[in-house]
Amino acid sequence: MCGIVGYIGPKQAQEILLEGLSKLEYRGYDSAGLAVYNGETIGVQKSKGRLSELEARLKSRSLPGNLGIGHTRWATHGKPSDENSHPHVDQEQRFAVVHNGIIENYLELKEELQAKGRVFTSETDTEVIAHLLADLWDGDLVSTVQKVVARLEGAYALGIISEHEPDKMVAVRLASPLIVGVGEGENFIASDIPAILKHTRDIYVVEDGEMAVITREGVQLMKTDGTPVQRDTLHVDWDVVTAEKGGYDHFMLKEIYEQPKAIRDTMAGRIKDGQVDLSREIGMSEDQINNIERIHIVACGTAYHAGLVGKYVIEDLVRIPVETDIASEYRYRNPIITPNTLVVVISQSGETADTLAALREAKKAGARVLAITNVVGSSVAREADDVIITWAGPEIAVASTKAYTSQLIAIYLLGAYFARIRGTRAESELADIVTALQQLPEKADQVLGNTTAIQQFAQEIARHEDLFFLGRGLDYAVALEGSLKLKEITYIHSEAYAAGELKHGTLALIEEGVPVISLATQEAIYDKMVSNIIEVKARGAHVLGLALEGDQELHKSVDQVFTIPKTLPLLTPVLAVIPLQLIAYYACVARGYDVDKPRNLAKSVTVE
Ligand code: G6P
Repeated sequence: MCGIVGYIGPKQAQEILLEGLSKLEYRGYDSAGLAVYNGETIGVQKSKGRLSELEARLKSRSLPGNLGIGHTRWATHGKPSDENSHPHVDQEQRFAVVHNGIIENYLELKEELQAKGRVFTSETDTEVIAHLLADLWDGDLVSTVQKVVARLEGAYALGIISEHEPDKMVAVRLASPLIVGVGEGENFIASDIPAILKHTRDIYVVEDGEMAVITREGVQLMKTDGTPVQRDTLHVDWDVVTAEKGGYDHFMLKEIYEQPKAIRDTMAGRIKDGQVDLSREIGMSEDQINNIERIHIVACGTAYHAGLVGKYVIEDLVRIPVETDIASEYRYRNPIITPNTLVVVISQSGETADTLAALREAKKAGARVLAITNVVGSSVAREADDVIITWAGPEIAVASTKAYTSQLIAIYLLGAYFARIRGTRAESELADIVTALQQLPEKADQVLGNTTAIQQFAQEIARHEDLFFLGRGLDYAVALEGSLKLKEITYIHSEAYAAGELKHGTLALIEEGVPVISLATQEAIYDKMVSNIIEVKARGAHVLGLALEGDQELHKSVDQVFTIPKTLPLLTPVLAVIPLQLIAYYACVARGYDVDKPRNLAKSVTVE
């Protein structure tokens, strides 16, 4: 997501901060800013756009001083703008703060602070932290930060400086990466190693629930309740390129492993008291929601595949007819759009030309448009009536992974929210869905923790030129995405089939040794699926079965089984897709192709 860098030492902070931020540019950002203490006050300079725009502003008004914090922002709360850029300050500019993550209870805090007369200048969640620091100031920076942190709910990495105690910088972490770089007579903070690699290779990794008090001479680690923490520094010998990828070989693998966090973040602040609440995102009244007669989900590529899952999920939970369509088809096919049609567009980038055109067609026809997108302030986000942002953070690899799983989460939230309002599911069933959703990050971690069998299978299929994916129901929707991943990066020809369709043609292509990946995670249609597996096996296919933990049957009919943890049948796509992403990844590595930049493909397709 966003990037943080901080400096305290004898040198001019501005240069070091800018240079550090430039090393975080690869992560994607929409604005940047610095706050530097100049011996008397804190100076702030920030700008929407590229770092070069911030640099241009600093040329006309530089920020001298030896203590400072900097930030590259990837918008979550509030569009990209000068005002919404970090650092944020309190009214008297005595405190400056940079933040990565999401403060879930910021609206409550904001109202409380506004009632006390504090004036906000941005739409961000972060600004509440600066005002809270001023509000709770007790004459000691560390204890004030502790009091502030005790009021925050959500995820954060924070860098804080104050005019009251300009001999130090305070950093705090909860569920968002943060490190402290140790130099000689100077020290650093950063959200990512590349930002400080030029200055030091000795770092402390700050853990969840910990804070660091950093002076020129030293670093003190403690829990946020003040209990001291003793830890050795870590020596990093990564080069810059490895550091950018967080130690992973490719961005795609890093992003696959970021999925538990992306899932958690996308739910953040949207589940309250055990219920999904999207009233902040969706401005429709209960009457308007009750009056929806049909839903069209429109998207391209991976987002379209998320939309296919959306059809099952929304029809099942809300009992509204849903059509999912490819944007380039939808825009030209004169779809039937009535005043009570809700059009849901899904787009990671929010800039895909066909998706945007479909959105405009739908609006022209009088539909209300709800967007699910990963980019605040993108064209799709700006033009839609309602927006659910997926908080997956920037996705760099062309093959989409964490954006897909967070799109699925947005769809589940939407389904559960509409089902509650329309009364199509009992409260207790919806509560079960919420509980199961909240367990998904941990279960995704479990899938990612044991990938040896997947790696072996990927080695095996890397030698082939044709492959099939089979599934029924939701498994079919996931099979389509698994097949797309494989095609995108390994250039292996692959097809996903609804298993019941096999005997209507595809079975003719199955011969000795053809690899088939069969998904069998849906209990209700498990037996049907097993019959289809036996059909391909009988024709000599080499079958990998994907099943739920505890499955005692599948191994009898396939060559190899890979299991995923159990969850509600409706939610299995989130877990089932992960092994398929990994198969594509490892098969691509085995074939020696460029994982992150596959031939002929672009991350964002902004032309038709
Ligand atoms: C391109 C990308 C895909 C993506 C599709 C839709 O083809 O390579 O990964 O799924 O566009 O992009 P969007 O940004 O609208 O989700």
